[in-house]
Amino acid sequence: MSQQLADLTVGLIGAGNISHLHVSAWKALGARVLVYSEEGADELAGQYGLEVAASLHACLAEAEFVDIVTPSPTHKEIALAAIKAGRNVICEKPLTLTAADSHEVIAAAASAGVKVYPAHVVRFFPAYSAAYDAVHAGRIGDVAVARFYRQASSPAGKGWYQDVARSGGVIMDLMVHDLDQARWLCGDVTSVYAVQNPPTVDGISPVNVAAHVTLTHATGAISHCRATWGATGTTFQSGFTVAGSTGVLKYASDADLGYTEELQAGAAVGDLLIPASTLGESPYLTQLRELAVALRGGPEPRVLAADGASAVYLAEAARESMATGRAIDMTTFDPTGEHA
Ligand SMILES: NC(=O)c1ccc[n+]([C@@H]2O[C@H](COP(=O)([O-])OP(=O)(O)OC[C@H]3O[C@@H](n4cnc5c(N)ncnc54)[C@H](O)[C@@H]3O)[C@@H](O)[C@H]2O)c1
Repeated sequence: MSQQLADLTVGLIGAGNISHLHVSAWKALGARVLVYSEEGADELAGQYGLEVAASLHACLAEAEFVDIVTPSPTHKEIALAAIKAGRNVICEKPLTLTAADSHEVIAAAASAGVKVYPAHVVRFFPAYSAAYDAVHAGRIGDVAVARFYRQASSPAGKGWYQDVARSGGVIMDLMVHDLDQARWLCGDVTSVYAVQNPPTVDGISPVNVAAHVTLTHATGAISHCRATWGATGTTFQSGFTVAGSTGVLKYASDADLGYTEELQAGAAVGDLLIPASTLGESPYLTQLRELAVALRGGPEPRVLAADGASAVYLAEAARESMATGRAIDMTTFDPTGEHA
């Protein structure tokens, strides 16, 4: 662990799917992890050698800061409890399910003098971060048209994801990564138009569903995002094309060979092919290191709470667009009174 992160005790709240990637990162950083979760804490602790806190209160009392990896509808309440206890917060995306709630969390943190960082991990994937650097260094001139996509096997078949009141649906849950990317790479958004197929009925998202959102940016650039919760077994894929006046940036995760093993039959360890150019560290590790160093007084990280709130606001506008069938003018959209 870097000197800046010596003797770190992290309070991990939640012990589900994504907790494994966070725990692996905290372990790699040498942190002590104290986990509190409604379910699964003992199993996670047993698997990784963590300590279990008996209550949220006990976890908050002992941890230096919290890392919230619970279902999205619980983020606000847990973040506010941590802030009240004077603890800094790292929270999985979406920061909360409405921009108004995000702003409530941000205001509470400001008055308590603590920080809140939303875990928008895509900003830490090397290709996306390289695209940001290229755009902001002016290497592709003025961005004109950008396209982002992301697909995964649907999490909606099991648990809370299918309930749009709890997950926000495929746009709030999955596309929120690319809404954040579109804003990060192309700037502020002035208009949002969204369609989803099949539609959500009575607040229940289809298990397999695709959504498309078109954004117009203040610069005049246009971006398009697609997010798909696919059939079981759908390979995870994401990518982008960002076209500017003097160049184009492209990335497709499926074209990125990354890491492969060619094993001879019966061999315990066969030939390994590890292209050094593509086998980097886990972006979850890059992310949590940068956020933890910032919480210890290091430089500001590349993602702030306001970015989390903005991504949620774009997803809310997309839902409003689907409800009305119209493009939403972001210069006036204000369902919550928070953006007047
Ligand atoms: N960044 C990413 O790549 C990524 C990927 C998947 C999920 N996520 C986000 O991470 C969050 C968690 O998703 P998941 O798939 O791991 O969920 P999950 O349902 O698999 O796990 C949630 C965990 O939180 C616990 N929990 C629920 N309510 C709690 C409460 N009030 N207090 C304490 N513990 C509670 C559950 O017992 C469970 O252990 C969601 O917000 C999701 O959007 C992010």
